[in-house]
Amino acid sequence: MQPCRVPKLAPMLFFLLPLLRLTTLSSAWAPVYRNITVDQQGRGDFRWVQPAVDSVPDGNRGWVRIHVKAGEYREKVTIPRSKEFILLEGEGYWTTQISFDGHAHPSVAEIMSRGGAAVDKMVSGGDGDASTTFSSATFTVLADNFMARDIAFKNTYNMVNLSRPDQAVAALVAGDKAAFHGCAFFGYQDTLCDYLGRHYFRGCYVMGAVDFIFGFGQSIYDGCTVVSNMPAAAGEHAQPGWVTAHARPNASSPGGLVFNGCAVLGTGRQYLGRAWNQHAAVVFHRTFMSAVVVPEGWDAWNAGGNLWQVTFAEDECAGLGANTSRRVAWEKKLSQSEVQRFVDIRFIDDGWLSKSP
Ligand SMILES: *[C@@H]1O[C@H](CO)[C@@H](O)[C@H](O)[C@H]1NC(C)=O
Ligand SMILES: *[C@@H]1O[C@H](CO)[C@@H](O)[C@H](O)[C@H]1NC(C)=O
Ligand SMILES: *[C@@H]1O[C@H](CO)[C@@H](O)[C@H](O)[C@H]1NC(C)=O
Ligand SMILES: *[C@@H]1O[C@H](CO)[C@@H](O)[C@H](O)[C@H]1NC(C)=O
Repeated sequence: MQPCRVPKLAPMLFFLLPLLRLTTLSSAWAPVYRNITVDQQGRGDFRWVQPAVDSVPDGNRGWVRIHVKAGEYREKVTIPRSKEFILLEGEGYWTTQISFDGHAHPSVAEIMSRGGAAVDKMVSGGDGDASTTFSSATFTVLADNFMARDIAFKNTYNMVNLSRPDQAVAALVAGDKAAFHGCAFFGYQDTLCDYLGRHYFRGCYVMGAVDFIFGFGQSIYDGCTVVSNMPAAAGEHAQPGWVTAHARPNASSPGGLVFNGCAVLGTGRQYLGRAWNQHAAVVFHRTFMSAVVVPEGWDAWNAGGNLWQVTFAEDECAGLGANTSRRVAWEKKLSQSEVQRFVDIRFIDDGWLSKSP
């Protein structure tokens, strides 16, 4: 099954190259002290990813590489809070994929099939919408100090029947100090939950249609390709989707989603973001935006009467979607030093990024 289209990037490189001035990182890499191999053909230490994760001891303090051989691994994977310093490495995001089809709002039949505890939770009201959104994730990282490379996380729920799309998370990143290099996130609604903590995404590919990067995260997306798979057939007057849905607990909380040297491509129509609350902060810098981006750019959503507090901004972007002449009046015009505060790697990094393997 290959529901995702490869975007035709070549004609765009001409526009993109001047934008792709990525952050330079120091190269003081940390050593890996143990290798584990996962191979569904049986020629590794494990056939599945979760047992490999489970084999890392609680309280682990040195980097462990889990190398996952090519294949589609049909399982849910969780890195628990107690297992830090895991490097999850595939063989390329078209080749090594962790894939599942969880979703929010399960039917009674699905809940029954999960057994007694799930039924009790539903009856007692403890399995509300919010918790099922988060528990729909194919991949969940709760631990601090995590890194992934060359691997895809996929939620296939909405790829089967789009007549009633539902929240279906591909990856939920809830630990502090997480870095993703050359990874892909495939979904439709709520693809990547950038939940909480400082995160770095470099050369990644994120596909979705509705709120497909959302959460309270404090993250830099460097040289990433963000692709809308909203059906074009929905037409000019259909409700556009939202690339981001961000929030911060309060005005002094850290947090913000920064897109630097990225590209926003795909089908259908998209707002760059909607405010999950009035403390939302999203900045696009030197990003190529195709015509999928709607002229208004941003949606107020939950900001209420506090639009002046929302920090949605663009700086030095290019492409048909980057024309700001019809943007909402409350888009922030940041000074160069304010832009630098977001774009500078110190926005997320106090030294941890260069200490990864
Ligand atoms: C782990 O694997 C890498 C790549 O194959 C190798 O360079 C390294 O020496 C291995 N490390 C250990 C501790 O086995
Ligand atoms: C898709 O979902 C709708 C609504 O639940 C249902 O009526 C329809 O039969 C489904 N189509 C397929 C091909 O499963
Ligand atoms: C703001 O939120 C942060 C968590 O992000 C919390 O630590 C802090 O106490 C909160 N401050 C106020 C004034 O509520
Ligand atoms: C931006 O959009 C406005 C209004 O739609 C249009 O007049 C203008 O020519 C556009 N600018 C560029 C650079 O395309």
